[in-house]
Amino acid sequence: MCGIVGYIGKQDVRNLLLEGLKRLEYRGYDSSGLAVFAQDGFSVVRCTGRVSNLVEATAKNSEEGTLGISHTRWATHGGVTESNTHPHVSSDGKIALVHNGVIENYVEMRKFLETKGFTFSSETDTEALSNLIAYHYAKEQTDAKDASRFFIAVKKALSHVEGTYGIAVTCVDYPDELIGARKGSPLIVGVGQGEYILASDVSAIITHTSNVVYLNDDEMVSMSRDDFRVVSAADEGVDPIIDTIDWDVEDAEKGEFAHYMLKEIFEQPAALENAMRGRFSDDSSTAIFGGLNLTPRELRQVDRILFTSCGTAWHACLVAEYLIERYARIPVEVEYASELRYRNAPLDKNTLVFVITQSGETIDTLGALREAKRKGYRALAITNGVGSTIAREADGGIYQHAGPEIGVASTKAFTSQLMIAAMLALYLGRLRDMSYTDGVEMVKALRSVPELVTETLKQDAQIKEIAVKYAEYADFLFLGRQAMFPVALEGALKLKEISYIHAEGYPAAEMKHGPIALISEECPSVFIATDGEIFQKVLSNIQEVKARKGKVILIHSKSCEVPRELVDDAIVIPDAADSIMPILATVPLQLLSYYIAVARGCDVDKPRNLAKSVTVE
Ligand code: AGP
Repeated sequence: MCGIVGYIGKQDVRNLLLEGLKRLEYRGYDSSGLAVFAQDGFSVVRCTGRVSNLVEATAKNSEEGTLGISHTRWATHGGVTESNTHPHVSSDGKIALVHNGVIENYVEMRKFLETKGFTFSSETDTEALSNLIAYHYAKEQTDAKDASRFFIAVKKALSHVEGTYGIAVTCVDYPDELIGARKGSPLIVGVGQGEYILASDVSAIITHTSNVVYLNDDEMVSMSRDDFRVVSAADEGVDPIIDTIDWDVEDAEKGEFAHYMLKEIFEQPAALENAMRGRFSDDSSTAIFGGLNLTPRELRQVDRILFTSCGTAWHACLVAEYLIERYARIPVEVEYASELRYRNAPLDKNTLVFVITQSGETIDTLGALREAKRKGYRALAITNGVGSTIAREADGGIYQHAGPEIGVASTKAFTSQLMIAAMLALYLGRLRDMSYTDGVEMVKALRSVPELVTETLKQDAQIKEIAVKYAEYADFLFLGRQAMFPVALEGALKLKEISYIHAEGYPAAEMKHGPIALISEECPSVFIATDGEIFQKVLSNIQEVKARKGKVILIHSKSCEVPRELVDDAIVIPDAADSIMPILATVPLQLLSYYIAVARGCDVDKPRNLAKSVTVE
């Protein structure tokens, strides 16, 4: 949520900030702004709406400089107005600040600062912090040996903050110092030659440098043009680890695709291949994971797994539940991270906790991970966020290697999570009762996925036609049984997110217990059914919909025999093993929601009210 870019170096900062903000726009796009350290103080430009508005305003109305901060906002405190847009400059004009996170005690801060003569022009929590830094700055008289008066003021102000922050700050008296700090909201430093970029994620810096330092919670960084210094909460100097980002600029660009979402849907064969790369045993009968940090003996002692996460990743947890219970015979539970973190759920001592998160930064998932660790449980992560907070705090885990996912609606990250869930089921199964031959069969099935997804993607044009036909409906049901139930939930979520159509996912048979009341000619149902023992049962559920004049779109595997009169439209996916069916069935749902959203004229990559990575509670 919210994107931050700050820069200190030798270039004119404005283009660099704007380019970074465009790349971070998927984190928030209600409004944006920048502050340049100019000849006569801060040159501030702020606009509501998209970053493109800020580009225009900056061209007309800003001064140049080589130090600056900027922000793209996803509103938390205060409406979407220019005065609420960051940067916030303290009322004495000394401090300019951009902030990601939530300052919980800002009301008290504000009252206190008003008694000290500071004034406020916005409804935000952030403005209280810029004034608080200015207050401490005014009180502090001189530079110290190791730190500037500015740095000390920021540190003192942050010690009074309750809540979360990732910040970039400048002071009008310090043309050679840019300060950043984080607690609960991600912040990184891009390390260049004679220049440093502070940003909330790597996409903002990738065109300038691939050297990056991931700041930890409670760390502060001070940057000049020649050097930077990281300081811990305990005020000790930290030896920063400079990591290398392993993806290219093109990975984070749309290329010839109309939207990132479409590009990412089509990247799935490659992302799925990457999830498997180097992860099968030499005899191809099981999966291997280097980063779990648990021996096979320790894993055999696990008698329960608790999966937790949010949104689409939570749907991946539900699929993992079906797969692991079926193939490894280990009981699995799934919880929303936002609920788990505040519930005092009793966990058995042999329970293993797994979080799934594309970004590795979702605050509720991070909260659940920390709570599990606090209670002494082994907590692992499946994440696409290399170097993310969750990747660093988990006791071990599995990287997805799906490449950057920019579209707000998760697509390739989800199917790659399903692939890893299937591989984990195989690995845990082979540590228990799964035979060598069954293991070999499962590896074969998993390896066939990229090709089968490529085949499924060839139905793009047909799915587009179906989408156009259904684009004007206001309500949809998505129905599936067993592992297709979470796939149905995911189909409904995709449609809601990007086309603003009301959609609900249900277990197909559960429909009779309430949702059937919604069925009419005006409410189409999307069924997902694959060949297998319950296919006939799903057909019965379809009959029930048809009997009430409901329209039916059926996604089914090739060898299913479907009475033509039962469905209005059908999308056929390849026949395949049950373990990989959730992946194959997801792809048409992604395309369906994508093309419906496009037909309705929605902004697919930046759906209203949403942001890619939810780092506030
Ligand atoms: C997916 O389409 C959503 N935008 C959202 O539900 C997302 O999956 C959720 O916020 C969790 O994000 P994470 O995987 O980065 O933790």
